[in-house]
Amino acid sequence: MALLAVDRLAVHMPTSRGAVPLVREVSFAVERGETLGIVGESGCGKTMTALALMGLLPDGALPSGEVRFEGENLLALPEEKLCKLRGNRLAMIFQEPMSALNPVHPIGKQIAESLILHRGLYPTDAEAEAVRLLDLVRMPEPKARLAQYPHQLSGGQRQRVMIAIALACQPDILIADEPTTALDVTVQAQILDLIHDLVDEFGMALVLISHDLGIVGDVTDRVLVMYAGRVVESGPTVDLFRRRAHPYTRGLFGALPNPLRARGSRLFTIPGTVPDAWAVATGCAFADRCQLAEPECRVALPPDVEVGPDHRALCRRTEVAT
Ligand SMILES: Nc1ncnc2c1ncn2[C@@H]1O[C@H](COP(=O)(O)OP(=O)(O)OP(=O)(O)O)[C@@H](O)[C@H]1O
Ligand code: SF4
Ligand SMILES: [Mg+2]
Repeated sequence: MALLAVDRLAVHMPTSRGAVPLVREVSFAVERGETLGIVGESGCGKTMTALALMGLLPDGALPSGEVRFEGENLLALPEEKLCKLRGNRLAMIFQEPMSALNPVHPIGKQIAESLILHRGLYPTDAEAEAVRLLDLVRMPEPKARLAQYPHQLSGGQRQRVMIAIALACQPDILIADEPTTALDVTVQAQILDLIHDLVDEFGMALVLISHDLGIVGDVTDRVLVMYAGRVVESGPTVDLFRRRAHPYTRGLFGALPNPLRARGSRLFTIPGTVPDAWAVATGCAFADRCQLAEPECRVALPPDVEVGPDHRALCRRTEVAT
């Protein structure tokens, strides 16, 4: 049984125009020790997918399908049980640590709170453990940091604190949503290396959302490429990066000379923009931007084609695209 198995996950947001699908039919599995990357342009539904896994969707958003964690469907759990699981087994690191940290409490207190709440430590033990965690995330002078406030730290240091808080509950699954976007390139690499090492050391599963194909190529085992709320291509990272079976994936790689070493490269290379969620009618959502589009592409949803071992693409013309 997979540690995390997501089956036909959808998220709808009720609006005056009816329920708008933000995530559609997303399925994947992640094993312990495995790293899954999720890529796609802004607005494709990466964050909504992550929030649905965590049970942290915005008010009103309705998830459906299944999110099975060790076989138990998280979408069917009462909030109280989910909350406990979220604290102990699943953790998420967000893009902007400043908004996730509390500005009025010293960081030692914030890490300790998590340890007391989720691991039942006594306050005195929690302080020592907070120092150990800060050391683990390679924070310089960890003990002296406990009394500092978030605004006294650099962006990279704040992200290290967020990672320490995420690790405080010894999660089985770590979801990192653009964890390095707000940081400069050198610090990005350090934080990514740190996350990667910790995932290895603790045998966690990592779901890494990133705009950076170089990072995804470097650290993930499998990749999901999302477009307009759907997974349009999925497969082992090496195969998917080589083959790029979906025209959208090809577009993402666009002008990159060497995709496997494209650290720092951004995705915005395809003419046009992702359609609004409610504007996606029948047919392939990518049709308006696809050079291979034919009339049938606009009529029915493209087939989910197996293009290689464990490698799939949602396109009726994969044989032409590859
Ligand atoms: N709070 C919200 N209420 C309603 N719709 C939202 C909300 N947040 C995001 N959306 C919509 O949900 C869709 C998916 O957004 P999401 O934030 O998941 O994209 P993303 O792939 O994470 O993009 P980015 O790369 O910019 O972070 C978009 O159409 C977006 O406009
Ligand atoms: S189904 Fe058609 S429009 Fe969609 S990506 Fe494939 S070729 Fe392009
Ligand atoms: Mg996002």
